[in-house]
Amino acid sequence: MFQGKKILLGISGSIAAYKIILLTRLLTKSGAEVKIVMTPAARDFVSPLTLSTLAGNPVLVELSDNASWSNHVMLGRWADIMVVAPLSCNTLAKMATGQCDNLLLATWLSATCPVMVAPAMDEDMWHHPTTKDNLTKLESFGVRILQVGNGPLASGLSGDGRMAETEEILKELEHFFFHTQQLKGKKVLITAGPTHERIDPVRFIGNHSSGKMGQALALELANRGAEVTLVSGPVQQSLNDARIEVVPVVSAQEMYDAAVAYFPFTDLAIMAAAVADYMPVTVSAEKIKKQEAAFSIELTRTPDILKKLGELKSADQLLVGFALESTNEKEYAKGKLAAKNADFIVMNSLREAGAGFGHDTNKITVFGKDGTETAFPLKSKKDVATDIVNLLMPHLNA
Ligand code: CTP
Repeated sequence: MFQGKKILLGISGSIAAYKIILLTRLLTKSGAEVKIVMTPAARDFVSPLTLSTLAGNPVLVELSDNASWSNHVMLGRWADIMVVAPLSCNTLAKMATGQCDNLLLATWLSATCPVMVAPAMDEDMWHHPTTKDNLTKLESFGVRILQVGNGPLASGLSGDGRMAETEEILKELEHFFFHTQQLKGKKVLITAGPTHERIDPVRFIGNHSSGKMGQALALELANRGAEVTLVSGPVQQSLNDARIEVVPVVSAQEMYDAAVAYFPFTDLAIMAAAVADYMPVTVSAEKIKKQEAAFSIELTRTPDILKKLGELKSADQLLVGFALESTNEKEYAKGKLAAKNADFIVMNSLREAGAGFGHDTNKITVFGKDGTETAFPLKSKKDVATDIVNLLMPHLNA
């Protein structure tokens, strides 16, 4: 099943390391090429000799061995995927903070391939807020985190924290190789976040967009193998994923320039940004001083990026816009679909609780130019991104 697939296993110190012996055997038996790096602590749980015999490759532990240097950069480039299993609490914390005191960590830091981790720890460690924070951080880097199981633990207690079983890891790998690479070779452009329109050196016109919806879409598409460029306005938490090219911009004009430059090379463009509709006619070079009299700023329209891309679009490009509405939602959303020559408009209503700006959830209805209307229930922005991409898949010739 995994004929010719290159899998890099990273083993850290946990009793669950014994499961990797069988995993290595099953992977090589099904045709995969397996290379293994271990942390020094992992050697206390499983023997490098056993693993290297099963993998048919030497197991690497140290950054340098007998005066020869282990090329961690090439390991991460060689692999189709790196799987860190078991992921101990200690290695998780080091990965989340970029520490680099062993070969496994150096390999992870330089890996250009997708990374999957299978955490294993005792229940209290698993539920500790620091662990949750570290996992959230890894997830924001695009790392796929496997669910832990519930059952007997090394402490003698029973609870959450057991590493995923061998069959589950194999199932995830099967999913990765045969379902998540469907968009390999496809290029995607996404706009996200707000824009800031400068008034003077210290003030701007902006909005509350967090950029989370666009980021969730970028991750979902990268997870399916697409090459993603994210043109992002100023957001509090930026995306940090080696697979995604982030182009930071500030104003609507800068976002327009970047989007127009990238668009000719893309198969799919999703405009999820909350672009300011107006900008000041002039930007004051000096800070504007207050006066007794009332004050007004003359505003002019910003360029409409979605509309421009709708004009430039060729028959084999797919263009998706968003619409955030508070009244006559359907009518306005359908109007935007036609006016901007988009293929789909994703509508979210400000009237729905939990939808729109500043929430981690969203509730959408997608209108297609083919007349389709697909409504989804309230979901996390991550799941909304999955729904949107699933809906687009048949139109992407993937
Ligand atoms: N959009 C854009 N460039 C702009 C304004 C909006 O690319 N200058 C895109 C948004 O990213 C979104 C879609 O257009 O995908 C709809 O944005 P919205 O602000 O809801 O629509 P408008 O056309 O600005 O209409 P209105 O403000 O009247 O609702």
